[in-house]
Amino acid sequence: MYPNNKLVNTTYAEKVTRYQAQIQQALDRLVLPEQPERLYAPIRYFLGLGGKRMRPVMCMLGYELFAEDSEKALPAALALELFHNFTLLHDDIMDKADKRRGQATVHAKWDENVAILSGDTLFVLAYDQLTYINPAKLPAVMRAFNRIAREVCEGQQLDMDYQGRAEVSLNEYLHMIRLKTSVLLGGCLEIGAILGGADEKQAHLAYVFGEKVGLAFQIQDDLLDAYGDPKKFGKKVGGDILVNKHTFLRMSAEALALGEMADDLKAAYAETDEKAKITRVKALFDTLGVPQKAELKKQELLKLAFGALDQLETTQTDVVHQLKALAFYLVERES
Ligand code: IPE
Ligand code: IPE
Ligand code: MG
Ligand code: MG
Ligand code: MG
Repeated sequence: MYPNNKLVNTTYAEKVTRYQAQIQQALDRLVLPEQPERLYAPIRYFLGLGGKRMRPVMCMLGYELFAEDSEKALPAALALELFHNFTLLHDDIMDKADKRRGQATVHAKWDENVAILSGDTLFVLAYDQLTYINPAKLPAVMRAFNRIAREVCEGQQLDMDYQGRAEVSLNEYLHMIRLKTSVLLGGCLEIGAILGGADEKQAHLAYVFGEKVGLAFQIQDDLLDAYGDPKKFGKKVGGDILVNKHTFLRMSAEALALGEMADDLKAAYAETDEKAKITRVKALFDTLGVPQKAELKKQELLKLAFGALDQLETTQTDVVHQLKALAFYLVERES
């Protein structure tokens, strides 16, 4: 489907696997107290469930665009992954999601109060990692980190606000997913680049690449939520439909459905039987060509992302290729 798929080469695969292992090792080495058990056991549990670890990988590749010895980016990469895991604990409460990474979510396994507090603690653990970065870069990294963290909260609030609204425009949706998802992916590259010695302009271009990939990544997430293979996806398929979330799929369907079809769509979303609701909504998505529309949007966003990447003044063409390969993977992933 994507013309440059040949970029998904073995150097890329070998490197990503190596970085993922490095990150997991560092997470396993985090020293956590045993007590209170209901505060720390959920953190150990959740960090042990894996996950793709794409944000820290992006941070390390962002660093490598400008410097060697990517290990120096590891504390910041860990901070970003810990922050991401914190957002997931709270997100699963907000989305009433009982499954993630193929297992029970923390609030489902323990309870909501446990997920709130162990989530908060993950946030603190994230900041703690920032104390290990190059002190000369700390103010710039901290400013970027705080901006991103606040924007993710803004996006999550908009996501909640939109859920209670009848209509949401495509621009509003894109604004919301930029905040809840993209700024973090962009920020991983930006922070990696800052640590690697990039100036403001270069760090911003790295950010823009991640931000555009992040938008396509969230559209893929919306697609998987409805069409994913339950054995691979790790989350409940159809969850977004059940909570009437304004996803790219729902909004495209609303834009494409005219007359009777529009009434059918409203009726399908009002269906009370869970299984029937998912089946009816998806049948309408299919008739309206919604998945195809999502594919086109992802390709358009990927082009913008690569445009930013190609403007970078870096001699590391290998890393540029690896970032492109990573982008292809992220928008076609199955989990
Ligand atoms: C899930 O992110 C949250 C979104 C922004 C869609 P990932 O799909 O990267 O989750 P893990 O960390 O791999 O489980
Ligand atoms: C993810 O949005 C945004 C954040 C976690 C900040 P979703 O709610 O779509 O993510 P998943 O699908 O639960 O992973
Ligand atoms: Mg959510
Ligand atoms: Mg969610
Ligand atoms: Mg989702």
